[in-house]
Amino acid sequence: MAATHILSIDQGTTSSRAILFDDAGVPVASAQKDLTQHFPNDGWVEHDPMEIWQDTLSVCREVIEGQGIDCIAAIGITNQRETTVVWDRKTGEPLHRAIVWQDRRTAEDCARLKREGHEALFQSRTGLLLDPYFSGTKVAWILDNVEGARSRAEKGELCFGTIDSWLVYKLTGGEVHATDVTNASRTLLFNIETQDWDEDLLELLRVPREMLPRVLDPSAMFGTTAPDVFGAPLPVAGILGDQQAATVGQACFAPGLMKSTYGTGCFALVNTGATKVDSTNKLLGTIAYRFGGEPAYALEGSIFMAGAIVQWLRDKMGLIATSSESEAVAREADPKSNVFLVPAFTGLGAPYWDPHARGTIIGMTRNTGRAEIVRAALEAVAFQTRDLMLAMAEDMKNAGLTAPTELRVDGGMVANDWFCQVLADTLGRPIARPAVTETTSLGAAFAAGLTVGLFKSTDDVEGIWKLDRCFDPAQDKDWRDSRYAGWQSAVARARVEQS
Ligand code: G3P
Repeated sequence: MAATHILSIDQGTTSSRAILFDDAGVPVASAQKDLTQHFPNDGWVEHDPMEIWQDTLSVCREVIEGQGIDCIAAIGITNQRETTVVWDRKTGEPLHRAIVWQDRRTAEDCARLKREGHEALFQSRTGLLLDPYFSGTKVAWILDNVEGARSRAEKGELCFGTIDSWLVYKLTGGEVHATDVTNASRTLLFNIETQDWDEDLLELLRVPREMLPRVLDPSAMFGTTAPDVFGAPLPVAGILGDQQAATVGQACFAPGLMKSTYGTGCFALVNTGATKVDSTNKLLGTIAYRFGGEPAYALEGSIFMAGAIVQWLRDKMGLIATSSESEAVAREADPKSNVFLVPAFTGLGAPYWDPHARGTIIGMTRNTGRAEIVRAALEAVAFQTRDLMLAMAEDMKNAGLTAPTELRVDGGMVANDWFCQVLADTLGRPIARPAVTETTSLGAAFAAGLTVGLFKSTDDVEGIWKLDRCFDPAQDKDWRDSRYAGWQSAVARARVEQS
């Protein structure tokens, strides 16, 4: 059989998946395993790197057993970003559980670096803020807390990697220690202008260069799977961090094109092309992709709670029995209700970055029932998306770029038509929902397919991207502005830091 398919590995925060795509970008088979979450302390989140590896192996094998290995031309990897693994270069033994992107244990290290006045340097070189979200301070934490780790790292005996690096190392039987530029751009260690690890930042974060992976284009020959992994060797030919992969899978290749993925949280990225935009609105600058050595940059905004709010309504509040019920219940709400819910359960992300803000509901009357609360919870995701879009528009204007005109959406929540319509009404922009919403895995499949010649250029993804439905704004500007003013006043009451 001709090898015309790509096996895409999507190693996410809550699950590991393998999806097989044909050369028309159609998903033809998949397998999934949920990942155990470890919370050893308040604000700490860890994953077991060996479980990640075993699960990845098992979902890939399940797909391969069902479809046969001969149809697979290459493997692409996409992954939860920033999550940090340190392992022994020789034995492949992890020194510690992976420290997950959500983990806040290095908050004080970041605060100290800020107090010492280093944030501007980090922001200008990496596009990121000094926040425990990113890998740099997590690597240093492992080196400081595992006995002997620092001196072993200095001698080159240890490897640091994000999940993509860890999987490539394991898939290639310990032969390859590499990452791609999109994952590197989330570490706080990588200079997104020079496209290399930055000596000054390495020194400030006390991370030895000896432990860092080689950085390649997302579409590159990373290595070949070891013989015992799948029985026959397969090239690992593409890697993209998951939000960048979704940007590619949504065919956001022109400056001004924006995508938003509504999973547990929400990550919105807008393509800024060859321009690295320095945000004055606390958005992140990042590398969207780099094909043929040419980087395309993006501005990114992250919202911590999106689908997680629906889970909260279901599991903690008992207001809905299933996630999908949220649509029908929200539709029942009194349209004149002025209830606003700020889901700052773990603080607020972009553009506020207020770790101390907490969940707040305002505007309740005797008439308020579960429908009004459910509606306010879903609307909160739309308001937060508007926060990001406005911040992006301003940053882009300052950089002489055109602001986003429409939003391409994906992720579990966009199956909810009511939510998509509210998003269009709140943003005053059309919302485009694609037919295939597996955009993250598709992005990784595309990167790998480009390397092995199954795809020729980004035009192929543009050809694959098909609209399912466009939601046009149905409300006027006055409605939009007055609702948004209500949201802003609710946010002000939820916040502690008012900067
Ligand atoms: O930056 C974190 C992000 O990459 C995690 O994505 O989909 O695994 O929650 P997800």
